[in-house]
Amino acid sequence: MRTRIVAGNWKLNGSRLANQRLVADILGGAADLSDTEIILCPPFVYLPAVGEQISGSNVQLGAQNAAAQASGAFTGEVSAAMLRDVGCSHVIVGHSERRALFGDTDEIVAGRFRAVHEQGLTPILCIGESLEERESGVTMTVIERQIGAVLDAVGVEPLAASVIAYEPVWAIGTGLTATPEQAQEVHSHVRSIIAARDAKIAAGLRILYGGSVKGANAAELFAMADIDGGLIGGAALDAAEFLTICRAAAGNN
Ligand code: PGA
Repeated sequence: MRTRIVAGNWKLNGSRLANQRLVADILGGAADLSDTEIILCPPFVYLPAVGEQISGSNVQLGAQNAAAQASGAFTGEVSAAMLRDVGCSHVIVGHSERRALFGDTDEIVAGRFRAVHEQGLTPILCIGESLEERESGVTMTVIERQIGAVLDAVGVEPLAASVIAYEPVWAIGTGLTATPEQAQEVHSHVRSIIAARDAKIAAGLRILYGGSVKGANAAELFAMADIDGGLIGGAALDAAEFLTICRAAAGNN
């Protein structure tokens, strides 16, 4: 049985005060959920404060992106070593907003993935098709291309210490959720892509679903065989909602 993961992607939201309250409320409810991994991914500048607040708890710290480069003349970037230095254990790479709005190509995402992995952090690799791609029937081709770029760059071994998040672009922040069956179909394909290279790594790989996950739909998604948790955006900013999702992942909702 794979341990489920619920990761909260705060995106460009928060303030010192709002974060303190949110984290305190999450910690209050998360303490007895020891069989689920819970990860909070605030904006870069809040990582140290959130890290301090969750220290000693069962909640872990993640970042929303990382530079492919280790250091140097890359204004505005933050390296994986810096993220490790401030206490991150996980880093989201290739989120669809990075891909669509900030020019992250499959190759750039693979570079970020490599940098995170080389620092001993766990990449949460986001993949997913747009509405246009789904409607034109190329969902699986897109998924294969996105995962293929990472496999080409680093091989399959790093996937043993990584997480993949399937986030159909049309479901992110739209209130439209993939049905459990739609998500399962892609998740199972993701696992088979990895299994073609290494069956053992594929069997242990955690594959998260993301895209309008809420307290109300989490349990039915997590009940699917290849859905090992969620990457949560909007609902991660509401402690009660986020905790309902965490409880669904822990199997006691
Ligand atoms: P959402 O975002 O839950 O608000 O749809 C998910 C994500 O972008 O990670």
